[in-house]
Amino acid sequence: MERVNEGAESIMYETKIAGVPMLIKFRNKKLWRIDKIDEELRERRTRKEAKLLIYAKKAGAAVPGVAAIGKYSIFMQKVGGKLLKDSKPSAHDMQTIGRYLALLHANGITHGDFTSANILLTKNGPFIIDFGLGVFSNSEEEKALDLLLLERSISKKDYANVRKAYTSIAKDHLTVTKRLNEIKKRGRYQTRTLA
Ligand SMILES: Nc1ncnc2c1ncn2[C@@H]1O[C@H](COP(=O)(O)OP(=O)(O)O)[C@@H](O)[C@H]1O
Ligand SMILES: [Mg+2]
Repeated sequence: MERVNEGAESIMYETKIAGVPMLIKFRNKKLWRIDKIDEELRERRTRKEAKLLIYAKKAGAAVPGVAAIGKYSIFMQKVGGKLLKDSKPSAHDMQTIGRYLALLHANGITHGDFTSANILLTKNGPFIIDFGLGVFSNSEEEKALDLLLLERSISKKDYANVRKAYTSIAKDHLTVTKRLNEIKKRGRYQTRTLA
């Protein structure tokens, strides 16, 4: 099994199951946490992320398929492509991303870390990855934060295409946008951080 990525919270391994490339997102032990708490946190977050991925797919967004769930690991479909932050997306790609975000939100899912580092552009279009900070929520604040994080990580032109699709689908886009403007006026905003 090959280690392909090490993030703040997890290690990504690549393997093949019946010849199909799979990724295993494994939440590793954090030595500074008390053992029992560490195990509970990792198990809870693994379950939640897997559940969010499964519901996101049901909502109609393109996300990696979940093949199996372990105590601290998610076996998922490896989707190819490059991160949005390292790509040149088309207007259509950006509109698809806006549509996926609207579908997630309409189905009570907010991503929590919706930046160009958590979207892959593949030959089958954009895929949303990394629901590690996601929440089951219908809150306008959480929805607005998803838009804000994306806006901050991409060009004006790309964001305009995201907005175009988002506003054409999200029934509550006016109240979400109002909240977004309030957050910007506040100047400071809190994004979710991990214990
Ligand atoms: N399903 C996937 N298919 C292909 N690459 C993936 C997939 N999931 C994650 N990756 C790659 O692994 C990296 C880390 O995954 P991610 O879920 O974002 O973990 P982290 O919590 O460490 O940010 C991503 O930036 C991406 O390059
Ligand atoms: Mg990530």
